[in-house]
Amino acid sequence: MRSVRVRAPGKVNLSLAVGRRQPDGYHPLATVFQAVSVHEELVATAADDWTVEVSGPQAELVPLDDTNLALRAARVLAEAVGVPGGVHLRIVKGVPVAGGMAGGSADAASALLACDALWGTGLARGELAELAAMLGSDVPFALHGQTAVGRGRGHLLSPVLARGQYHWTFGLQDTGLSTARVYGMFDEVVGQGADDEPDVDAALLRALRAGDAAALGAALSNDLQPATLELAPELVETLAVAEDAGALGVVVSGSGPTVAALAMDRQHAHAIGRAMLDAGVVDGVLQASGPVPGARIITEA
Ligand code: C5P
Repeated sequence: MRSVRVRAPGKVNLSLAVGRRQPDGYHPLATVFQAVSVHEELVATAADDWTVEVSGPQAELVPLDDTNLALRAARVLAEAVGVPGGVHLRIVKGVPVAGGMAGGSADAASALLACDALWGTGLARGELAELAAMLGSDVPFALHGQTAVGRGRGHLLSPVLARGQYHWTFGLQDTGLSTARVYGMFDEVVGQGADDEPDVDAALLRALRAGDAAALGAALSNDLQPATLELAPELVETLAVAEDAGALGVVVSGSGPTVAALAMDRQHAHAIGRAMLDAGVVDGVLQASGPVPGARIITEA
């Protein structure tokens, strides 16, 4: 086999409960992820050395050296299974860079899946998930997809009974936010006041079980939001504009700065996007729906 093409989704955190910083620097989480129809595409091609190229919106913001998360994923897999490598990775970005939608994590999940197929190493999903957790807190979910509860650093997943398709508008910013920086601000804003054992809101799980978009909208929540708004105060207006456009719920996605607005249907999602653009409170918008599957092989050649 010469090359493998994979697609992996971005995510939105429907809820994100964040606990107090632990001695290892991480925060215990109880989050509900939903994978949405905004995708990264990655082609892995057999090569002697280790290289990556990136195209698509904001591609220039993605590092191409050894810190590239997809390249790191390929190396971690090679090491784990004893393959010499290398590989050439070609990434087409669809998920905003440093936007709180786990685009880099989707690249890492894609690289694991693609290289596993390219090298014929045939790891089980569970084995790939273990490697994924070594690469980043959100990488296991990018493999998993659909709707899931994440605990631990966000990497310990359990499925959620969820009905219905949800329509989203994402308000984008040209300038991303570093996840580590947002967690650092969380320590300043909330700090010792945070729970030791964060938990998932029962009302949100009920809404998902019932497929009730209005109830889901009312239950969206994000403990990182005050920290994100401290670092990017202009988002207060973005949230307000989406709310005024009748969104069922509005929340900062993950560590931000992307703002996620839940709409009644596709047309409403479009109208909310229009309102955000017209008000000049975003640099771009994306419409998407969820849940969608996790990382998938599209073609092997
Ligand atoms: O796991 P990942 O590399 O995506 O995390 C990026 C940064 O976000 C970490 O270095 C850490 O500062 C912060 N983080 C955290 N608690 C989590 C997940 C991430 O503090 N549960």
